[in-house]
Formats: sequence, C-alpha cells, structure tokens
Amino acid sequence: MIELRNVSYSYRTISGSTAALENISAVLPSNKVTAVIGRTGSGKSTLMELIGGITAPDSGTVTVNGLDAGKCGSSIGFVFQYPEHQLFAETVYDDIACGPSNLGIRGDELEARVTEAAELTHIGKRLLRLAPFELSGGQKRLAALAGILAMKPSVLLLDEPAAGLDPSGRRLVFSIIRSLVSGAEDMTVVFVTHSMEDAAEHADEILVLNGGRKAAFGTPSRIFTDEKLLSGCGLGLPETVKLQKELYALGLDPGEMLDVPSAFGSVCEMLGRCGVSPKPKGNV
Ligand SMILES: Nc1ncnc2c1ncn2[C@@H]1O[C@H](COP(=O)(O)OP(=O)(O)O)[C@@H](O)[C@H]1O
Ligand SMILES: [Mg+2]
Repeated sequence: MIELRNVSYSYRTISGSTAALENISAVLPSNKVTAVIGRTGSGKSTLMELIGGITAPDSGTVTVNGLDAGKCGSSIGFVFQYPEHQLFAETVYDDIACGPSNLGIRGDELEARVTEAAELTHIGKRLLRLAPFELSGGQKRLAALAGILAMKPSVLLLDEPAAGLDPSGRRLVFSIIRSLVSGAEDMTVVFVTHSMEDAAEHADEILVLNGGRKAAFGTPSRIFTDEKLLSGCGLGLPETVKLQKELYALGLDPGEMLDVPSAFGSVCEMLGRCGVSPKPKGNV
C-alpha cells in the first residue's frame, strides 16, 4: 500500500522554482493496479519518482507499506520508460540475475530468482542464453521487467510500460501486471499511461493529475463516466466509451462499455435482444 499525505514538490532551477506537485493525498491499495493519468506536465513522472523514493517531497509524506519511501530500497521496483535501453549484460540470464546479485543473492537462490522471473514474464529457456540484442523489442521489454521482478519488489512502478509495443506485446505486459497482483504475495502496482483505453481496461483504480494537483481518484467506471472532469484535465474518453455514447444517442442502451471485452459483450447482448445470436470466432 502506498500512502501519499499532503505531498508537494517543486523543481528549483536557475530561472526559479516550478511547482510540480501540490498537496497530493491518496492511498494506492495493495493487490490492486493503479493507473496515473494526466496530460504532459501534470506531474506523473515526478509522482512516480517520489513514490520510488528517488526524490523526497518538499512537504508531506510518502510511505510504502508503512515505511518512508526513501528507505524502502529494493522492495520498490522502478521500471523506467523504455527499460530495454538499459540491458547490458552478455546474456539475458545474466541481465536478469544482475539485480538480485547486487543484493548479495548467490547460488541456487539466484538461479531460482532468475527462473521464476523468466517464467513470470514468459521468457523461455532458449531466450535466457541469448544476448539481449538478439531479442525482439517486445522480448527486451519483458527481459527488463524480469530483471526488476527478480529482486522481488512488493511495489512495482512502471512509466508507460506498453509504449511502443505491438498489440500482442501490450496484452502480454498487462497480463503479467495482472498476474502480479493476483498472486498470494502482497503487491502494489502503479503505472503511468497516456492511453485512456489502457487505464480503462487494466487499472482497478485511477489517479487523475491536473497541473500538479489531484483532480480525481476512483475506479475506471467512476472516472470515465465523468466527461466534464476529463475534459477539464485535457483528457479524452476511451474509444469504447465514445461508442457507448453514440449508441445512447441512437436510443440504444448498451450498458457500460469501459473496454473492448465489455463493449463486445454489450454489442452481443444488444444483437441478442434483436433476435441475432452472434457466434464469436475468437478472442477479442
Ligand atoms: N528536471 C526538471 N527541472 C525543472 N522542472 C521540471 C523538471 N522535470 C519536470 N519539471 C516540471 O515539473 C512539472 C511536472 O513534470 P512531470 O512530472 O515530468 O510531468 P508528466 O510526467 O506528467 O509529463 C512540469 O511543469 C515540468 O516542466
Ligand atoms: Mg512523464
């Protein structure tokens, strides 16, 4: 669990000081995925750095599972944007082993950590023996994620984890994120995204930032039914919610269409009410 209490932070530069975050309070729950959304410059990256303990707030407190974020060390895993740029070891195996090895883990325990992290991220044994540059872009992203997971963090922070991936890569990254919070171990996941679709489909809770302030915190269902809030923050609706609105305007009642799977269900149901029974051919 992450607790932000009255957190403020300003950058000091030669030209003066820029307020990046102002009086943010929120509780980001364990075993849930929280998305942070907001237009460019709204404070998302700064907030992640404060939660990650990389930067200390000017005022207020950031605690992670009850401890000051700055004192949490490797229990916070930070996956920077395009983390694959930081792969450097001779083999994928060595790269994943690097983090836990720096924590002093050796021998069987180290091997077990690498194997477990590789399994979690769908990296097969063959890939572990390759050099990082021999992997595809999507595989590199997974290898970088595996390297963080091998340190067994209880909080995982990801800045735009799906940026630049193809649709199947995006799906895989978010399915891994979901599996992390579904396990028996205590895990809090926070990701930054520019995609309203990803926030709607993959987050349990959403923190909306606007000009360094908290504009809202709530479930996707609550956030994406408040178009006024979103437009006030310079954000749009997910495509499926736009479609939902179009259908309402036609006098139809599709119900909530927050993401593609729920939109697909709604459309099938509406067709059913018209006496048409679609037979799905594959996954949406
Ligand atoms: N290193 C920095 N020095 C000075 N100002 C910064 C720095 N990094 C970010 N800022 C400012 O802080 C505010 C929040 O930035 P940031 O957290 O990067 O927003 P986001 O990630 O939402 O785009 C912006 O006004 C930005 O210009
Ligand atoms: Mg940013």
